[in-house]
Amino acid sequence: MNAPIVSFNHVGKSFDVDGFELEAIREFNLDIAEGEFVAIVGSSGCGKSTLLRLLVGLDTQFRGQISVDGKAVTGIGGERGIVFQEHRLFPWLTVADNIGLGLVNEPLSLEQKQKRVRDFIDLVGLSDFTRAYPHQLSGGMAQRVAIARGLVASPRILLLDEPFGALDALTRQQMQDELLAIRARARITTILVTHDVEEAIFLADRVVVMEPRPGRIKRVVDIALPHPRQRSSFDFHQLREELLHELTSDGHYQPPVPVQVRDLPLSFIAC
Ligand SMILES: Nc1ncnc2c1ncn2[C@@H]1O[C@H](COP(=O)(O)OP(=O)(O)OP(=O)(O)O)[C@@H](O)[C@H]1O
Ligand SMILES: [Mg+2]
Repeated sequence: MNAPIVSFNHVGKSFDVDGFELEAIREFNLDIAEGEFVAIVGSSGCGKSTLLRLLVGLDTQFRGQISVDGKAVTGIGGERGIVFQEHRLFPWLTVADNIGLGLVNEPLSLEQKQKRVRDFIDLVGLSDFTRAYPHQLSGGMAQRVAIARGLVASPRILLLDEPFGALDALTRQQMQDELLAIRARARITTILVTHDVEEAIFLADRVVVMEPRPGRIKRVVDIALPHPRQRSSFDFHQLREELLHELTSDGHYQPPVPVQVRDLPLSFIAC
């Protein structure tokens, strides 16, 4: 592998819960190559969202080192974009303004920002909804807005935390196809957290299987199937069985509960 764009070295993370130490992540080591698509699967509470928060720089209290392009992560940065587990759109802002939030720290003129926002609205197929508000969107459309916001600053690394978790199966597959199409246009290194093993195999170059308490890597599986991948193929099916077995074999597997993407309390963190 060439020099990795992302490198986790001996990463550990603990939380203080009521005076007790909760070890959320232990000894997480992973190198990710530029342009690679890595999926992370694992049961609820095994530290997947925590890992993304550490990589995006929202939480800098951890053990070990996380580097991007060889430089230690010490805070948020425009080269990393994140789409949270819930879409976290501002209900009082339009689609365009919600996406525009992704550009607040970018050194662009107002016109450049407006053009960029328009381009990304087109990219996620929402050009008829530019001035719509989140309550006027379906769950899938709101997720598209969140994805556009994650992409609008043209990050080199895109972090996706269960972005399609609350969507119906058909919309979910459409969004997966769109994500691959976006990646085909721009070579974005992508890290996707998902509880859907099939989604991980359909999209990723590698799947990291985590185990809980404390969260750590159980196995990393290469997905060498050529694109476009056929969900009904024998090889796909075999990988699916293998990964499901890996996830459930220790008897600890608890599937994450899908979040409702609408009507959530707003706790948006600008980054
Ligand atoms: N701010 C926090 N304070 C205390 N404990 C936390 C905090 N954030 C996460 N944890 C704990 O860390 C562990 C990992 O949480 P995390 O949200 O990363 O799990 P997850 O793998 O994303 O789960 P899910 O699939 O349900 O989203 C859990 O035990 C959780 O309770
Ligand atoms: Mg999570």
